Amino acid sequence: MSKFSDYNFAGHKALVRVDFNVPLDKKTFAITDDNRMKATIPTIKKILKDGGSAILMSHLGRPKDGPEDKSSLKHLVPHLKELLGGTNIVFADDCIGEQANASAKNLQPGEVLLLENLRFYKEEEKGDEAFAEKLSKLGDVYVNDAFGTAHRAHASTAVIAKFFPPANRMFGLLMEAEVASAEKVMHETQKPFVAIIGGAKVSDKILIIENLLERATDIIIGGGMAYTFMKANGGKIGNSLCEEDRLQTALDLMEKANKKGVCIHLPADSIIADKFAADANTSAAPSNNIPDGWMGLDIGASACDQFSNIIKKSKTILWNGPMGVFEMANFQHGTKAIATAVANSTQNGAFSLVGGGDSVAAVNQFGFADKVSYVSTGGGALLEYFEGKELPGIAAIK
Ligand code: 3PG
Ligand code: MG
Repeated sequence: MSKFSDYNFAGHKALVRVDFNVPLDKKTFAITDDNRMKATIPTIKKILKDGGSAILMSHLGRPKDGPEDKSSLKHLVPHLKELLGGTNIVFADDCIGEQANASAKNLQPGEVLLLENLRFYKEEEKGDEAFAEKLSKLGDVYVNDAFGTAHRAHASTAVIAKFFPPANRMFGLLMEAEVASAEKVMHETQKPFVAIIGGAKVSDKILIIENLLERATDIIIGGGMAYTFMKANGGKIGNSLCEEDRLQTALDLMEKANKKGVCIHLPADSIIADKFAADANTSAAPSNNIPDGWMGLDIGASACDQFSNIIKKSKTILWNGPMGVFEMANFQHGTKAIATAVANSTQNGAFSLVGGGDSVAAVNQFGFADKVSYVSTGGGALLEYFEGKELPGIAAIK
């Protein structure tokens, strides 16, 4: 593979896999979170500045039956143009075929071509070789900047790489930055290393916790999943979220942690509510003694202190998943307190990586994005990376 920043794109047509899988308003198709688009702009700009042209390809959503308006990448064209400072964007309403070929062929240095949604073809997700080869013909250099999709072994993310000689395939700047910060946490770890894991379900996080048991000093568990752990320990959790079929898993994880000398921290107390609603009545209770009819929807004040103290003494911080239902004002204090602790620790020299859809949304919502070391554009991809899996999108380039 080549190094992106050393490559001179003058006269080249760079085929760039981006992850423009951004959320759109259902009615107006306005982009409601453009972070993934913004994150890949430096890559595109460098190609254009060198005197190359960029052919961008992406998926959007999960269309099942071919083309559909709500998943069309055409909705992104005006905003992309704006992000690129007014650069004209040519749009091809099919990612392969005559129009795409002609548009790519006619593309001039400094111009951008955006291809229609790759997933309008089933071949994309199947990793079809012939489809990958057709795409590959559109450019002479392949740049993968789609970290968010790096866990998918799809035609455009993995299979396509072999149609380019190693010297003409590379990561983009976003992919490089994502991989560098993930590696900093996983392989160049400064201890103490705390992993903060939240979210609703234990079942989604078993593999990452297992893998982190090999590396972390402390694992903080918050969010809905904490109550499965509480109940497994014999606690009374009222109507809190619980995966009954994961109680044994929770016990096993805690036992493994114990053997390895990793401290698993559960929230001492919780903010409880009498229903899952923004206007619920609220109170506070120990997380292992929640009355019937009440449910824990956020970590409590003692838990905030408990967790903040651990974060404060850590040198490496990985945060995936919120501490409570931060979308509702009454239950966002815990997530905010953790964001504050992570920001303070970062200011004191710790390296902090925040990833996974909801924790990233929280960090953005509370204005902490530039107070942590790195905010990842990867959800599933980041999770799989920290589960210890090799990501096909990375392996294919290497
Ligand atoms: C994501 O948002 O997770 C990536 O863009 C990959 O999309 P997918 O989960 O539909 O494969
Ligand atoms: Mg996903």
